[in-house]
Amino acid sequence: MNFELLPPIILDSVDSTNAAAMRLLKDGRPIEGTCIRANYQTAGRGQRNNHWQSDTHENLLVSFILYPSPHLSSMPFSLSKTIALAVHQTLCAFASVDVKIKWPNDLLIGGKKAAGILIENQWSGSSWSAAIAGIGINVNQRIFEVNHATSISAESAKNTPIEEVLSELQRQLSHFYERLCNGDYAAINQAYHQHLFGRNDTYTYEIREGKIQAKVVRVLDDGQVELITEKGATNSYQLSEIRLMY
Ligand code: BTN
Repeated sequence: MNFELLPPIILDSVDSTNAAAMRLLKDGRPIEGTCIRANYQTAGRGQRNNHWQSDTHENLLVSFILYPSPHLSSMPFSLSKTIALAVHQTLCAFASVDVKIKWPNDLLIGGKKAAGILIENQWSGSSWSAAIAGIGINVNQRIFEVNHATSISAESAKNTPIEEVLSELQRQLSHFYERLCNGDYAAINQAYHQHLFGRNDTYTYEIREGKIQAKVVRVLDDGQVELITEKGATNSYQLSEIRLMY
């Protein structure tokens, strides 16, 4: 598996690279690892139905088409952990500051969000037929609408060619995805937890019942996060049920 050998499909402007990948999948079966990159998205999609905003030509906006092995159908979140690790390693190659994975798969440099991942799956019955791994990495943008966002260049004080970030991402993705396909999930799971934000420090989380002070224990195979409060109570939550308060 070597996704680096596949030249990306480059679009100047598109609604969303994930949507473009979905259109390709509707028309046929593109080769695994097909990468669609855009300089600008008019309707970039984020998690929790959020919009993904990115200045033109400043950042890496890509989607990869993958066909996960049938044995992974029962654990789709394993792909999410795999992609998060690949993006984590990519950021580590360019930023010397602490890089962390914030559940489920946000990437933080020095505590600020530098990359996001949106995986959209296609199923045929109970079998996983395709996954679109949409990745946005903030590379050279310096000014953001929210103050807990950052970019590689903001943290390294120099501009970075976006192509270099993409090549590194393709290299890391090939490596970790191959390990996942070869059944090396235990190691991927362990590495994901090693870089997981919030395991050692207590943060405030907002849940339906109010606010709690807690630490992350682990991320379960179904994607839920397990927290432990200061009083020792453990509970697990889906993405729609919890939010970290900055
Ligand atoms: C998040 O909310 O953190 C996930 C953001 C994912 C953004 C990327 S940019 C490329 C791809 N195309 C999209 O529309 N979204 C993903």
